[in-house]
Amino acid sequence: MSGFRGRDVLSIRDLSRADIDLVLRTAKKMVPIAVGEKRSRSLEGKILSTLFYEPSTRTRLSFESAMARLGGRALGFSGSEGTSVQKGESLADTVRMVEAYSDAIVLRHSHEGAARLAAEFTDKPVINAGDGAGQHPTQTLLDLYTIWDEKGTFEGQNVALVGDLKYGRTVHSLTYALAELGSHLIFVSPETLEMPREILEHVKERGLSFRVAHRLEDVIRDADVVYATRIQKERFPDPQEYEKVAGSYRIEVDMLRDAKRDLIIMHPLPRTTEIAPEVDRTKHAVYFKQAFNGVPVRMALLDLILGGGA
Ligand code: NCD
Repeated sequence: MSGFRGRDVLSIRDLSRADIDLVLRTAKKMVPIAVGEKRSRSLEGKILSTLFYEPSTRTRLSFESAMARLGGRALGFSGSEGTSVQKGESLADTVRMVEAYSDAIVLRHSHEGAARLAAEFTDKPVINAGDGAGQHPTQTLLDLYTIWDEKGTFEGQNVALVGDLKYGRTVHSLTYALAELGSHLIFVSPETLEMPREILEHVKERGLSFRVAHRLEDVIRDADVVYATRIQKERFPDPQEYEKVAGSYRIEVDMLRDAKRDLIIMHPLPRTTEIAPEVDRTKHAVYFKQAFNGVPVRMALLDLILGGGA
């Protein structure tokens, strides 16, 4: 039995290396069930609440698919329209009530720290599905799974994180994880959207070297992994500031000529203009596979938290 039973997943930093290994290995075993080849009822009778105060396609649907594949059920809302949030209900009250309807709660919210706050109001496990520009730990687990599945290791991989490193929660969580796992990080962003200082300090403290760059062309030939991100328009206090950096990075097929043959291009999706559609047909593109990986990874996590474990 693992130490996952009943646990909250609020930040990737809550998970040890052994925890991450366990999730990845369990996810691998879940793949035949995730694609419908094998059947499982391991979460029969379990109910997951999905409270999405911010838009989501993949995260919410892959949590729902994961529950369904394991014989459990999911209920919830996407956007607070039609719920009592419109009447002014607080997050704390919503969580207190929803805990009586379900066995675990997945929460996405625009406020950093919202999942941690929610966890204070319930004894049921809370899983952070994105809190503002903060963290997105389950996305990181599926990102790690994708790198591990494609590359076999994290150690020594040159991982270029590209785009909005200031507001992008996926890259915040991923940086913390890869700093533990021994990858070499290359941070590529406009000057105004650099990785927050405290995260860079953390990477330094872990004794890892990293590079900061502003042009993708300068680093692409060294990269084993390019992790592209959307400029997080909704987080900009000033729309004019967004306009200055919108469309800063776009991966085109031509740019891949100098890339390593086994470079993989990842993206948490949704993409806007960051990756030209022609790139989809190259062997480098793994972002749709990455999105699928969200299902076995979330199955693994839910089974470890709610079920009997691996
Ligand atoms: C990301 C998010 O919500 O942080 N999406 C996701 O969960 N796959 C990335 C984004 O919105 O740009």
